[in-house]
Amino acid sequence: MVLLASSEVLVFDQVREGLRVAVPRCEYLVDPLAVDTLEPRLSWQIESNSRDARQTAYQIIVASSAAVLATNRGDLWDTGKVASNQTIQIAYQGKPLASRLRCFWKVRAWDQNGRASTWSKPAQWAMGLMQSADWSAKWIGDKLPSVENLSAATLRREFKLSSRARRAIVYASALGVYELHINGKRVGNDLLAPEFTDYHTRTQYQSYDVTELLKPGANGIGAVLGDGWYAGGIGLARSLIKKPRNIYGDHPRFIAQLEVELADGKTERVVTDESWKTSREGPIAQSDILDGEVYDARREMPGWDSAGFDDKAWKTADVASNVRTTLVAQPNEPIRVTQDIKPISVSEPKPGIYVFDMGQNMVGWCRLRVQGAAGTTVTIRHAEMLSDDGTIYTDNLRAAKQTDSYTMRGRVRLRGGGIASDGIETFEPHFTYHGFRYVEVTGLKSKPLLDAITGRVFNSAMIETGAFESSDPTLNKLWRNILWTQRGNMLSIPTDCPQRDERLGWMGDIQIFVGTGILNMDMAAFYKKWMRDVRDAQAEDGRFADFSPHPFGKDKIFTGVPGWGDAGIVVPWRVWQHYGDKRMLAENLESGKRWVEFIRANNPNLLWKNKRGNDYGDWLNSDTLIYEGFPNKGGQVPKEIFATMMFAYAADLVSRSARVLGKDDDTAKYKQLFEDIKAAFNKAYVTEDGRIQGDTQAGYAIALHFDLLPQKLRPQAVRYMLEGIERYKGHMSTGFHSTYRMMLELTAAGHNDVAYKLINNHTFPSWGYSIENGATTIWERWDGYVKGRGFQNKGMNSFNHYAIGAVGEWMYRVIVGINHDDAHPAYEHFVIRPYPGGGLKWAKGSYDSIRGKIASSWSIAAGKLKLDVRIPANTTATVFVPAKDAGNVLESGKPANKSTGVEFLRMQEGAAVFLVKSGSYSFESVQ
Ligand code: BGC
Repeated sequence: MVLLASSEVLVFDQVREGLRVAVPRCEYLVDPLAVDTLEPRLSWQIESNSRDARQTAYQIIVASSAAVLATNRGDLWDTGKVASNQTIQIAYQGKPLASRLRCFWKVRAWDQNGRASTWSKPAQWAMGLMQSADWSAKWIGDKLPSVENLSAATLRREFKLSSRARRAIVYASALGVYELHINGKRVGNDLLAPEFTDYHTRTQYQSYDVTELLKPGANGIGAVLGDGWYAGGIGLARSLIKKPRNIYGDHPRFIAQLEVELADGKTERVVTDESWKTSREGPIAQSDILDGEVYDARREMPGWDSAGFDDKAWKTADVASNVRTTLVAQPNEPIRVTQDIKPISVSEPKPGIYVFDMGQNMVGWCRLRVQGAAGTTVTIRHAEMLSDDGTIYTDNLRAAKQTDSYTMRGRVRLRGGGIASDGIETFEPHFTYHGFRYVEVTGLKSKPLLDAITGRVFNSAMIETGAFESSDPTLNKLWRNILWTQRGNMLSIPTDCPQRDERLGWMGDIQIFVGTGILNMDMAAFYKKWMRDVRDAQAEDGRFADFSPHPFGKDKIFTGVPGWGDAGIVVPWRVWQHYGDKRMLAENLESGKRWVEFIRANNPNLLWKNKRGNDYGDWLNSDTLIYEGFPNKGGQVPKEIFATMMFAYAADLVSRSARVLGKDDDTAKYKQLFEDIKAAFNKAYVTEDGRIQGDTQAGYAIALHFDLLPQKLRPQAVRYMLEGIERYKGHMSTGFHSTYRMMLELTAAGHNDVAYKLINNHTFPSWGYSIENGATTIWERWDGYVKGRGFQNKGMNSFNHYAIGAVGEWMYRVIVGINHDDAHPAYEHFVIRPYPGGGLKWAKGSYDSIRGKIASSWSIAAGKLKLDVRIPANTTATVFVPAKDAGNVLESGKPANKSTGVEFLRMQEGAAVFLVKSGSYSFESVQ
């Protein structure tokens, strides 16, 4: 016993001191089932309990089976011991990969003392269907166009298996949205698959391991197929192309290919073709992304998705031969329910009208639990706000109905055929989604209990990576509101809003929010998907679309706007900063150049005067506020100037991207273009003493942020920006594009006190104002609702819009102090530089970077500042400890410069600056 115990201790110590290899991922995902790149990229994280833990070498082995991997052999790829500190973006270089191949892999790492870690836990990926010839399945549906009959189609067939399945994978997709079933069970829990893409170019397929769902003998497979983005309504379609629905097509289609390896050694393939049957008699009588779903439980067809169902009355499926789209494996996290919310109250503002308050503006739908006679219809309407009389306020939804209805089956029957004793019926929609805080329920005989409704929150299910908390409850609420707004708008594409008839991938909004979004969630795979949408939507002449996907004539309308199109360059750049994704930069470099060249070709004197499309400018700046006494001039930076600044920024980022990719010619060419635009900008719009035409806060903020002024004029610009803030009595007059950039520039210029003042404002316009007025998400407009005045223009007044939530980046970078470093992308090295201030007593936050968790937490009490930081293994950080004198900075109670892992570099702007190796540290300084 004693011996055993001591050997256990020995093993534990070794593990504690050595490195551990964790979180093995392929193409950013855990064990993806369909990868369609021939050189998938692998990553892992290094963990250690010691300071200054470093990886000096790694070995990856990739095997064709779990059994081979278990013997530590890599029959597909064995890197051997590679001297390298890299843990991310390592491209597979083994034997050629082919469709369906399963790859089992693991990795180990050596530390700086040459000690090897144990192997990581085994991980895997499977190759998808790489060639169109891999698909023997056909696109099926029925002959009814989805124009008058809006019922979802149900599709099914049966098949026999001669023995137990050893492994079964199904690949499935739709032009529309679908749910797949096998033997009475729903396959997976993804929602709104295959998600929103430009279906004429590219449609995603999903892959599921369904081994456990199959059985020897007769099996049933089926799908429910809704209209979705393909055949249903899409935001703005009505106004832009006078077409309410059927934007991509009017015949939804479904495709599936089930590939089974049987225990008896045989293989079976079940594919969609003319052997399938179809019906429009199912319970989903109508479904639409924007309008909602009509469900009649009396039309349910128990057993339709199992063997033995009588489908004689069903029609033979219609096989479409003219579908032109490329099927690609879904690269991003699926849309899934990420949490459930219980309502906080239910009221009855008018007889029989019940209004639930979810307590949170959310995106998803409701689960309804009700009881009643067969044929009773319950109608569920969704809204973000209430009118004064307590009924729901729906004007700002414009034409989106956001209404579900459920007609009760009334019979006490359960799905599986049993009898329910309580007669309670449960309903959730399938092919729609809503943005709402309030839920109006009508059609019930008596007041429902609170548990009649559950809010099912869903979004593209990325891991949440950020945390923020401080001594100020309003700031904490602001951070939560930003996160909720992100949850609500990352749904296959980054949308502007989730409620009205819009919900599009507006490029300007995400260009601004991308940094905050990445700190809040692991966005890499999401952007890998969406940047394809962006390229698919680019016009022939190089204009990026105003929103992507762009189904409304990308070469003609809603393309090419300054500050919007630029997302095509900005997003890959910011993804590279945080994830080191060079491949994404490379994939987007040419499209970025085409955009910049389009602008240059039309504006040879380098001021962007021509071809600015819809020219939104610094959107929703303070000139658009409606409030008596509030100036309606002076906020907006002149649009031509705004455009020219964006042009310069785009050229600069193209040059930087080219540099990362080692393309010297492009680096020099676009750097020169940037310098030339800068010169033209100064000549045309900047006076000798640094006034930028328009004299707006926004103009100075953006010019400073994009480095558009000569060094000697920067202090002047800062002064004018401060004067601008004074003119607005200590408030912002900035719009979408300039607000968070001004916050960052105030801090950079040493006026952090002013930045704190702006974020601490509770008077209008400010974030605090919306919070005082009950906001649980970020509003589109500072004055979405104003006491005494009421709602802003119902034509454009979302309460769930992330753009001005871009200040989240400032909160992470300035309050908590976590900053990336472009010289060492993906947090290989980073900067921790918190700026205590704004009356805060403490603040703490963290970011789960691709290399591990970074944390920073500070507090001030009794004249002492404490700063705790966490630097992931195999990374280093420059840490700024606010202090008067480096000599009085302690770390874990010892003089900091004597502490292990800490090296004093310099004093800078009121802080002692240290180079800190990986590990956890507690600094303390006298203030
Ligand atoms: C959207 C915005 C978008 C804008 C373009 C609006 O309707 O909601 O966020 O960027 O149009 O001006």
